[in-house]
Amino acid sequence: MQVRFNDVTMAYGDKAVLQNINFTIPEGKLVSILGPSGCGKSTTLMLISGLTFPSNGQIYFGDKEVTKQDAVKRKVGMVFQNYALYPHLSVLENIMFPLKMEKVPKKQRRERAMELATLVQIEDHVDKKPKQLSGGQQQRVAIARALAKEPSILLMDEPLSNLDARLRIEMREEIHRIQQETGVTTVFVTHDQEEALSISDEVMVLNEGAIQQNSDPITLYRKPKNRFVAQFLGTPVINTIDTVAHPEVLDRLALPENTKRTVTMIGLRAEDLVTTTNQNEALFEGTVSHVARVGKDVTVHIKNQYQEVVATDLGVIPQEETDIYLTAQMKDIHLFDQNGETVEFEAVALA
Ligand SMILES: Nc1ncnc2c1ncn2[C@@H]1O[C@H](COP(=O)(O)OP(=O)(O)OP(=O)(O)O)[C@@H](O)[C@H]1O
Ligand SMILES: [Mg+2]
Repeated sequence: MQVRFNDVTMAYGDKAVLQNINFTIPEGKLVSILGPSGCGKSTTLMLISGLTFPSNGQIYFGDKEVTKQDAVKRKVGMVFQNYALYPHLSVLENIMFPLKMEKVPKKQRRERAMELATLVQIEDHVDKKPKQLSGGQQQRVAIARALAKEPSILLMDEPLSNLDARLRIEMREEIHRIQQETGVTTVFVTHDQEEALSISDEVMVLNEGAIQQNSDPITLYRKPKNRFVAQFLGTPVINTIDTVAHPEVLDRLALPENTKRTVTMIGLRAEDLVTTTNQNEALFEGTVSHVARVGKDVTVHIKNQYQEVVATDLGVIPQEETDIYLTAQMKDIHLFDQNGETVEFEAVALA
């Protein structure tokens, strides 16, 4: 089911936690809502579910307005961080529970529940009680239960945050697989950028109750609309250089004069920095202060009297204490204006 928000505002008292939100979640896609704690992710999900209603604006499921319709009528499936399984029921009974509520005949509900148990690969544990399962297995049961009543849309609020790092990766791939196999429109809330980027068709970045950007993961990473998105996505965090304090950096870039006048900051991702021997093309000069090795990853820290930057793909790893010049290709440079908005540019030939 396609979901559309039209100018939706949500306020608690006089505090607006979502302000004039507009978006469309396309039918059959997996969309993530990504943002820091308190930005309004769960609130957005609750508004989709019908467990709360907006202060202003309209919500549509397909062509139908559902703004004031309650949760049961909207037929949404929900999965939360805490699995919320019924402890006294077996795995199979948990999955069958919503079907029992809908008075589906017993034989049919067993068959349907077994199908779902197979889909989420928990079929070998159907007679166990939830407490006999691992966290990941419990979350599989919760997903199967949410799918049992064939929801119009599946809503997941940080479903993996209680799992350890390895299991999180395994389970996010599972969620992706299950979504693809069922084709159910899914909204997945997370504050983990890697999780959002790895499984979603589209990612909606929220900050302080406003949508920052809504696009496919690659566009989001390569073409962030503003400094918030650029800094929220990517590990390590994108390097930034204040070009008001260091105007000489802009002079080394092949940019039109009017572009230079609006830019107050440049952003350089750690993987885009390369060394150069030509000081005239250096965007940063400094001393290698530390080379950190974690498994296959090498992160080089370079420092000068003003700040530090990090580089992850230098090719030849420089020795600590050596002085180096760093630059990047024009296509990899991000420019921001004083409001933190991305400045689009076309490179020109350097004079
Ligand atoms: N029932 C409520 N009454 C008053 N304020 C609320 C209520 N529910 C949420 N808020 C506020 O609305 C804002 C958004 O909350 P929300 O739960 O949507 O954030 P979130 O993005 O899901 O955060 P987290 O990542 O911590 O779960 C927060 O500032 C929160 O304090
Ligand atoms: Mg939340």
